[in-house]
Parts: sequence; structure tokens; C-alpha cells
Amino acid sequence: METYEQLFEKYKAAFDAALADYLSKITLAPDILNESFRYSLLVGGKRLRPVLMFAAARMLGGKEQDVAPFAVALEMIHTYSLVHDDLPGMDNDDFRRGQPSNHKKFGVGQAILAGDALLNEAYALCFQESRRGRTYLNAAEQICLNAGARGMIAGQAADLFYEGREDAGRSEAEFIVRNKTAKMLVSAVTVPAYVYGMDENIISLLAEYGRNLGFLFQITDDMLDVNGEFDKLGKSVGKDESEKKLSFVRLCGMEECRALAERYCAQCEKVLDVLPFETEFFKETARFVLNREY
Ligand code: IPE
Ligand code: IPE
Ligand code: MG
Ligand code: MG
Ligand code: MG
Repeated sequence: METYEQLFEKYKAAFDAALADYLSKITLAPDILNESFRYSLLVGGKRLRPVLMFAAARMLGGKEQDVAPFAVALEMIHTYSLVHDDLPGMDNDDFRRGQPSNHKKFGVGQAILAGDALLNEAYALCFQESRRGRTYLNAAEQICLNAGARGMIAGQAADLFYEGREDAGRSEAEFIVRNKTAKMLVSAVTVPAYVYGMDENIISLLAEYGRNLGFLFQITDDMLDVNGEFDKLGKSVGKDESEKKLSFVRLCGMEECRALAERYCAQCEKVLDVLPFETEFFKETARFVLNREY
């Protein structure tokens, strides 16, 4: 029996192979676009979203290959969101994944375009996959909806809008997290279920897990911005406070955040217990996120 860490590494290796395969088939011009596009994708990252997608495919009786292009597309969209999130007009962060952020290396204009390129190439992959049939089309649509104006982008817009606003509270913070973080994780775990044409009930339970994991993930991200280490995180700390972000830490303090994170973790496990599958990997993932240092 493989340990959780070994399984995680196995899915991650499968994803890195799928990404390498995709990248080997395209060469972008001019060179600076080719480089800036690859830089942020290959510079590191936990690969949590593709790992969850592969694990969900396995849990539902399928295999990594069935959803590999969607995993690549989702990680490309996630990476674009980070490239843009780091821009001076947004969070203004100089480091990402342990390296200079995209705009520090290539300049602001090229970083905007690298993000745009990652997003548009991800859409092209989704269109290609949609040719395989209606269930693939449904999966592709979910990826796009959860990443777009009714998903991650809405969360990012709210995240910026509520910076420094004293009149914003819990419901605004929840809107931010539900959209900017949770919906991408909902995509990660539901895409295989869409691809396999599973019934609504299974899809909604998986989405519920993804939502809870998203809150758990962002609360621990906000806590790590206070007590995490640059060397482990690969990104600057202390920025949320200096930018007056409407984070859960700002709203309820570190101690209550820990209790809240534990509650979201317990909620993840509770939802998983209702699913008629072997869900241990997903429980372990919630516990990993609860206790993570990176
Ligand atoms: C960072 O996501 C952005 C948030 C949603 C908090 P990750 O922590 O998954 O970033 P990488 O992919 O590992 O760099
Ligand atoms: C960003 O949240 C979430 C995204 C959609 C990119 P943060 O701004 O807290 O992420 P980090 O801390 O920069 O990774
Ligand atoms: Mg941000
Ligand atoms: Mg940020
Ligand atoms: Mg953060």
C-alpha cells in the first residue's frame, strides 16, 4: 500500500508528464512569450488542483489519462491567476514559487500577456477535449465558469475592492474565498465526474467537498501569510496586513482562524463519508491542507 505522500507524488509525476507532453507540441513566438509562458508553469508549485483531479478520476473508476488535458488546462488557468495576482496593480509580489514573479523577470507588459496566453491556451485545450463528446463539453464548461466572471475573477475583483474597507465583513470575505479560491478546487474534483457522466448527487457532493477545501485552503494561506516562512512558501509573507486585505485573519484573528480551519477540515471529512467511494486520499488532503507549511 502506498502512503499518502507516495500517492501524491505519483499523481504529481503523472501531471508533470502530461504538461511536458503538451509543451513539447507547441512553440510560441516571439521567444519572450515562449519563455514567459513556460517560466511560471515550470518553476514549481504544489500541483494540488491536477493531483486532486487525477485522484478523483481514480476514485470514480477511471484513470489519469481520461482527464489529463483538463488537468493541464486547470493548472494553466491557476498559473495565469497567480501571474496576474502578483502584478503591481494587484498584490505587487516579487516572488512566486521560490523564484522572481513573472513580471520581475519579463516586465509587467509581458507578464500580462503571459497570463493571457496561459488562459487562452487553456480554453483551446478545453475546446479540443469537448470534441470527444457531450460529457467532456460539460466538464469544459464547468472549468470556464468556475474560473471566469462568475468564479475566480469575481473573487479577485472583490479581493481588490475590499482592500482597506472597514465596512466590509464576514459575508464579503466569504464571497471572496468562495470565488477566488474554492471554485477552482470545485473544478478540480468535479471535472472527472462530469466526464464520466455521473449523476447530479455525486457531482454536488464532490462540489461541496471542493468548497469546504477551498475555505480551508484560503484560511491556511492567510495564516501562513502571518506565521509562514518565505523559504518554505516560496512567496513573500506579511503582505496581507500591509495591503489591508479583507482576510479571515483580519476579521477573526489567528486563534479563531485555526478553529475555523479545523471546522472546514471536519466538514470535508463529513461530506466524504456520504460518498459511496474510497475517499481516504481526499481526507488526507484536507488534513494536509490544515497542517501545511507551504
Ligand atoms: C496559491 O495557490 C493561491 C491561492 C489560492 C491561495 P497554491 O498555494 O496552490 O499555489 P502553488 O500552485 O502551490 O504555487
Ligand atoms: C490569490 O489569493 C488567489 C488567486 C486566485 C490567485 P492570494 O493573493 O492570497 O494568493 P497568494 O498568497 O498571493 O498566493
Ligand atoms: Mg491576491
Ligand atoms: Mg497574492
Ligand atoms: Mg495569500
